[in-house]
Amino acid sequence: MAAVSQTTVVPADAELLQAQADLWRHSLYYLTSMALKCAVELCIPTAIHNLGGAASLQDLVNALSLPKTKLPFLGRLMRLLVTSGIFVSGEDEGSYRLNPLSWLLVEGAEAEDHGYQKYFVIGTNSRNCVDAALSLADWFKKDLSMPPPSPFEDLHGVPLFHDYTPTLGEDFDIMINKSLAAHDNFAIGTTVRECNGLFQGLQSLTDCCGGDGTMARAVVKVFPGIKCTVLDLPKVIKKAPADDAVKYVAGDMFDSIPPAQAVLLKLVLHFWDDEDCVKILERCRNAIPSREEGGKVIIIEVVLGHSMEPIMYEAQVLLDMLMMVNTRGRQRAENEWLEIFMKAGFSDYKIVKKIGPRAFIEVYP
Ligand SMILES: C[S@@+](CC[C@H](N)C(=O)[O-])C[C@H]1O[C@@H](n2cnc3c(N)ncnc32)[C@H](O)[C@@H]1O
Repeated sequence: MAAVSQTTVVPADAELLQAQADLWRHSLYYLTSMALKCAVELCIPTAIHNLGGAASLQDLVNALSLPKTKLPFLGRLMRLLVTSGIFVSGEDEGSYRLNPLSWLLVEGAEAEDHGYQKYFVIGTNSRNCVDAALSLADWFKKDLSMPPPSPFEDLHGVPLFHDYTPTLGEDFDIMINKSLAAHDNFAIGTTVRECNGLFQGLQSLTDCCGGDGTMARAVVKVFPGIKCTVLDLPKVIKKAPADDAVKYVAGDMFDSIPPAQAVLLKLVLHFWDDEDCVKILERCRNAIPSREEGGKVIIIEVVLGHSMEPIMYEAQVLLDMLMMVNTRGRQRAENEWLEIFMKAGFSDYKIVKKIGPRAFIEVYP
C-alpha cells in the first residue's frame, strides 16, 4: 500500500461538497462544448440575429423549424449556454440575446474584421478530433519512437493537415481546413491596425507560409508601399487568388525563403517541434539583412504566460492541449521561444505587443 504523504490534507466536509461540485463541472464541461456545437449546427446565433437580436424559445422553434415538442429541451440547452456565457438572457423573461462570443457565430454578419468562427467550433469538436482526445491515456502508455506521432496521427494513421488527411473523408478534410482558416484569419484587420508599428517603414516583407495571401493583402491595404511576397507550398499557391497586390512564390520553407527586409511567421511555428522551428528560423535569418539594415523576423504566436488574466491563460493552455492531441506542435512560454531564437543564431528579440491571447514578437539577427 502506498504510504500516505505527510502533506496530504483530508478535506473538511464543506471542502468535500465543493470538490464534488467542481468534479461535476470538470467532468461535464464537454457537454458545454457539445451544446455549443449543437447551437452552431442548428444556426441559433444566426436565427437570433435575424429575429432582431432577441428571441424567445417559441421564436427559435419557429425560425429553426424544430418540432414543437422540443421547446422545453431547447430551454434547457439555452440555460446551459447562458450560464456558460455563450448567450445572454434578454430583457423579457425567457428571451435570449447575442453577446460578442455568439456574434462570432452569426452567418453573413461578418464585417471586414469579423472572423466567422462556426468552423472552429465544428472542427475542434469533430468526431475525429474528439476520438483523438479520448485516446490520450492509451497514447501516453505507448513507448513510441521520437518524435512521437500525435494522438490524432497514432489513432487515425494519418496526421492532421497533411496530404493524406483526406483519406479520413473528403468532407472532414474540407471542414477541418475551414476550421483552420477561421482560426488563422480571425481579426486580421485588427491585427494589422493594432500592430502597425511592426510594418511601418518596411520596404519588403515575405509572409512565410502565408496561405492564400489573406494576411499579406491586409498588410498591403494599410501599407501600400511594402513589396509583399507570399511563400507557400505549390498546392496552396496554385489555388491562391490572382491579384497584383502581392507576389506569390511556390516553394518549401525548409529549402529557402524569398529574401525581404522582414519575414513574417504568423501562426506557423506552433505547428512544428523545436528542431524544425530552429531550421525554419535559420532559413528566415538567411532571407533578411542585418539588424542595422532593418532586418527582422516578425512572429505572431501565443506566448504562454501566467501573468495574463486567468481566462486568457486558460484559453492558451487549452489551445496547447488542442495542438498536443492533434499535431506535433505546441504553444510556448517566453523562455522556450528565447531558446529557439538563440539556437537559430538570432541575437535579440522583443515582445512588441500582446493582443488577446497572442503576442507580436520581433526577432533580430
Ligand atoms: C497554419 S497554416 C497558415 C498560416 C498562415 N500564416 C496564416 O496565419 O493564415 C500553415 C501554412 O503553412 C504551409 N506550409 C506547410 N509546410 C510548408 C513548407 N514546408 N513550406 C511552405 N509552406 C508550408 C501550409 O500549406 C499552410 O498554408
